Amino acid sequence: MEARPVRIAPSLLSADFVRLAEQVAAVEEAGADWLHVDVMDGHFVPNLTLGPPIVKALRAVARRPLDVHIMIERPEEWVERYVEAGAEVLTFHVEAAADPSAAIDKIVAAGARPAMALNPATPVEHVLPFLDRLSMVLVMSVHPGFGGQKFMPEVLVKLERLREAGYSGDLEIDGGIGPETIESAARAGAHVFVSGTGVFGAPDWKARIADLRARARGAAVPSAS
Ligand code: DX5
Ligand code: ZN
Repeated sequence: MEARPVRIAPSLLSADFVRLAEQVAAVEEAGADWLHVDVMDGHFVPNLTLGPPIVKALRAVARRPLDVHIMIERPEEWVERYVEAGAEVLTFHVEAAADPSAAIDKIVAAGARPAMALNPATPVEHVLPFLDRLSMVLVMSVHPGFGGQKFMPEVLVKLERLREAGYSGDLEIDGGIGPETIESAARAGAHVFVSGTGVFGAPDWKARIADLRARARGAAVPSAS
């Protein structure tokens, strides 16, 4: 069985927002596969970032897929707006959704790939009923809300559980990913890696993305499918 292609998704949360278009072009040039966009509402998480107008502006300048991670309450009421704004992959939190099934249906109907995220404290069982309809599962390896936090290795068992459950969609990990942590995440089964400070905080983004990719490839496991 082949390992799935490694995707490095720099989180724009750690970019310079005044120069967002330039930073997008530069990080794409440096080898980013996807652009991770963190949407925070100041309710589900204690921080506030950006909404559909900025996603739309990003879509107009980006060449790579937008991997939009919405950390917002009642996502089922908002998902269509993020897809219309340009999200190719739209990830909402299972903890925040009153009706996760409706959120998935709306994302698919609007034309994007649906994904669900799990906070560190949320058991993997919460996503199991939805796996056959999810294009990706995002395992949070920090408490969502801020960049630059310490990686929580105890969440990795969830990736293993998802593979054991036969899940063959994308497995993404988000929070504290850098050269010291990416190999353990890849060994557990992740192949889509969000990295904010790990990329934007490095002196040479191209060298950092290449290093992350090489480490992830070296530690990758065969896919479940
Ligand atoms: C945290 C966000 C992450 C964050 C990652 O709530 O979902 O995407 O930007 O930042 P780092 O890679 O610095 O932990
Ligand atoms: Zn994120």
